[in-house]
Amino acid sequence: MVAGAGKGAEAFGGLVAAQTPMPDNSRQAAIQCRMDKESLMSEFNADAALAVKNVANNRVDTPAIIAVDHVFKSVTDSTGTLDILRDIHFSLAPKETVAIVGASGSGKSTLLSIIAGLDTPSRGTVRLAGQDLFAMSEDDRAALRAEQLGFVFQSFQLLGNLTALENVMLPLELAGRKDSRKAAAEMLAHVGLAERFGHYPKVLSGGEQQRVALARAFVVKPAVLLADEPTGSLDFATGETIMKLMFELNEALGTTLVLVTHDRGIAERCQRRITIEAGRVI
Ligand SMILES: Nc1ncnc2c1ncn2[C@@H]1O[C@H](COP(=O)(O)OP(=O)(O)OP(=O)(O)O)[C@@H](O)[C@H]1O
Ligand SMILES: [Mg+2]
Repeated sequence: MVAGAGKGAEAFGGLVAAQTPMPDNSRQAAIQCRMDKESLMSEFNADAALAVKNVANNRVDTPAIIAVDHVFKSVTDSTGTLDILRDIHFSLAPKETVAIVGASGSGKSTLLSIIAGLDTPSRGTVRLAGQDLFAMSEDDRAALRAEQLGFVFQSFQLLGNLTALENVMLPLELAGRKDSRKAAAEMLAHVGLAERFGHYPKVLSGGEQQRVALARAFVVKPAVLLADEPTGSLDFATGETIMKLMFELNEALGTTLVLVTHDRGIAERCQRRITIEAGRVI
């Protein structure tokens, strides 16, 4: 259908030129009009062909869920200035999975904190779901973060005085959800901890604590999950269970995954890898 559209436009232009007697300047205008239509149609066909090609390559252009725009981060103390991030620029599509890799001290955790709006860049912007994080008030940023982001840390960061269930309920309660107990219980059961609702973090194993942390991060169905070495404190088998869960939840909920990892195997399971070296993407 798209291929025939150009011919249709040409036929239409030709009909106007052939059937209507007209003075020279009108004929000139009609020819010009036909040429304009032809060039428009050929542009249209080229765009349509590109769109078809992108669909075929599974690369439909969608608005970025995260856009990191020329971000720099420097810190200054009595010993001088340290440039931690230098001109980081990339964007991620919804549902994309990306590994951020690089040597220790290259700036990965700093970048993740800035994407989460927990740290501020010295220069540049970050857009989350189209909103400029650092043009917002602190309160608005916290609200956007609560709505759109989940964060998983290497060290779990559960609240020790709350049970597993209460830890998972917390973000729902902060969001004013009335069904927080039910939704938290379902998510904990989903990560295989149905028997552990009333347990406090200190009696749970590392893998169990990380599953509670995952349930807490995913229970609000965030658009983006940021994970900083989520398996770094776990043995291989437990780490595998956690990674499997993350990819399953990414599939089920369409969550964009941003994983900082030193594990090459995990990095290779992501659709994309962003390598940071001395604060730059290489
Ligand atoms: N607030 C700060 N003040 C001074 N230096 C900092 C600060 N935050 C980070 N750094 C330094 O910036 C560099 C990058 O730190 P970052 O934690 O982002 O690295 P990383 O890539 O996550 O490393 P790792 O793989 O070891 O976790 C490090 O040299 C760190 O010491
Ligand atoms: Mg780090």
